[in-house]
Amino acid sequence: MHRHDVVVVGAGLAGQRAALAAVEAGRDVAIVSKLHPLRSHSGAAQGGINAAVGAEDSVDTHIYDTVKGSDYLGDQDAIEFFCREAGPTVVEMEHFGTIFSRGSDGNLARRPFGGQGFPRTIYAADRTGLALLQALYERLGTESFTLYEEWDLTRIVVQDRRVQGIVAFDRRHGDFAGIAAKSVVVATGPAGRIYGRTTNAHSCTGDGIAAAYHAGAQLKDMEFVQFHPTALLESGILITEGARGEGGILKNVGGERFMSRYAPHVLDLASRDVVSRAIWTEVKEGRGFPGGYVHLELMHLGRERIESRLQEICDFCRNFAGVDPVTEPIPIMPGQHYMMGGIGTNIRGETNIAGLFAAGEAACVSIHGANRLGGNSLLETLVFGKQAGNAAAAYSDRAAPTDISEEVVEGESRAVHAMTDRKEGEEPQHLRTEMQATMDELVGIYRQPQELLEAQRRIGALKLRFASVRVVDRSSVYNINLTDALETGHMIDLAEVIVAGAIARTESRGAHARVDFPKRDDANWMKHTLARFTPDGPELSYAPVAFTRWEPKERVY
Ligand code: FUM
Repeated sequence: MHRHDVVVVGAGLAGQRAALAAVEAGRDVAIVSKLHPLRSHSGAAQGGINAAVGAEDSVDTHIYDTVKGSDYLGDQDAIEFFCREAGPTVVEMEHFGTIFSRGSDGNLARRPFGGQGFPRTIYAADRTGLALLQALYERLGTESFTLYEEWDLTRIVVQDRRVQGIVAFDRRHGDFAGIAAKSVVVATGPAGRIYGRTTNAHSCTGDGIAAAYHAGAQLKDMEFVQFHPTALLESGILITEGARGEGGILKNVGGERFMSRYAPHVLDLASRDVVSRAIWTEVKEGRGFPGGYVHLELMHLGRERIESRLQEICDFCRNFAGVDPVTEPIPIMPGQHYMMGGIGTNIRGETNIAGLFAAGEAACVSIHGANRLGGNSLLETLVFGKQAGNAAAAYSDRAAPTDISEEVVEGESRAVHAMTDRKEGEEPQHLRTEMQATMDELVGIYRQPQELLEAQRRIGALKLRFASVRVVDRSSVYNINLTDALETGHMIDLAEVIVAGAIARTESRGAHARVDFPKRDDANWMKHTLARFTPDGPELSYAPVAFTRWEPKERVY
């Protein structure tokens, strides 16, 4: 049994920022992570972080762009707080040692990103997430905390609606352990691997979201899944929006710059939901290239600009698609990229369970509403990671000690060993592949009622089959087959919530585009979806959206 004041699960930017805040508040802090912190998915974020720092830009414009981008589902009080924190957050990260790109005047360089009225995305070439992650890790490394590395979260323990800590599986030793904590912060990132075609790392399996859901936390707005317009064909690797920010343009098979028909004012830099639907439509209506894709062209920008500002993109295109973006167009299609939904929190990261906090992509505050703007995600990890860390520290200061019984840990161990002891049964990877195919085919950019119902049927069947899943590898050390099974179980549960929310929401808003309800319906659907775990499937309810200064309008780009 281990014991700490604050346990942070997840070691990406949100988790590390939460841990730093809690350590600075004087708490005994542990981070539990299935990956080395520098391998977290935060490091894959390319294009930048938003902050209205120049004299010509304003925090109010950033707030408005975020509200509009969210298709008015974002909570405006939370968005106002978030955008005000942006400048100080970027300055703090620079003081921690992040080396941002600079303009010829020596100031922080900024590039335009989709759906924003001003170029406000600050960047470190096209490795912004990695630059931030390295600086934060170095800063955190000067403090004292415990790191449980390569441990899988299996359960968040709650008694009488209060967190007691977690149970986790130590991959290296093959043991389960209880880690008692007065506060638990979930910062485990997204669940993008629910889809087959995704820009997300293989580690993005929603472990913390699923554990919180099982522990009684409310999930919010899970039906809103973002598809990034430009994922490299076949591999799905992200080609940053910064490529269009630098002047890249999309073309169909006829050589037409087709975005002029979908977003006549801002063209390729409309918000992601709009651009993804446009690309999808071009391909479905026969204006894609054979095999189904469109081109992203950068050649006109010139070698110097491409190779200095988009270094990583050059490597990805050359190594994974065999094309050189300096001389050839890049074949792209949209890919799942981000989940607007997650564990419901307020701006302090508090959930509906005492002592349980969440931050980053695992959480839903909600600042992104129905569609997130590029560049707001890195900012979210840092702003709300710090908030959650501070709140978790304060809570642990006044909370009574917690405990996790041997019985609870043994129960977890028994449940998992049932999978390795089974002599017959399906292997988890087959269920994972079927789930991904279902979500790719039936719960994508455009959503049809019959397809959603079929997805619900298939995911329900997978859930039943998962109950008798078999892990063939019985080794106790680094049993990746077992990790795969745990992750698959988490993702099937979350896929069920996404589909239930998408069936219920009979309107189109942001990234949720229903072909049978093509219009936004503010009269009936200006509300957040909440999902609560029951053994029979998610129980949905709804909560109001917070408004401050911006009345809903039609969203035009
Ligand atoms: O396109 C990108 O660089 C992604 C950025 C983001 O999702 O915020």
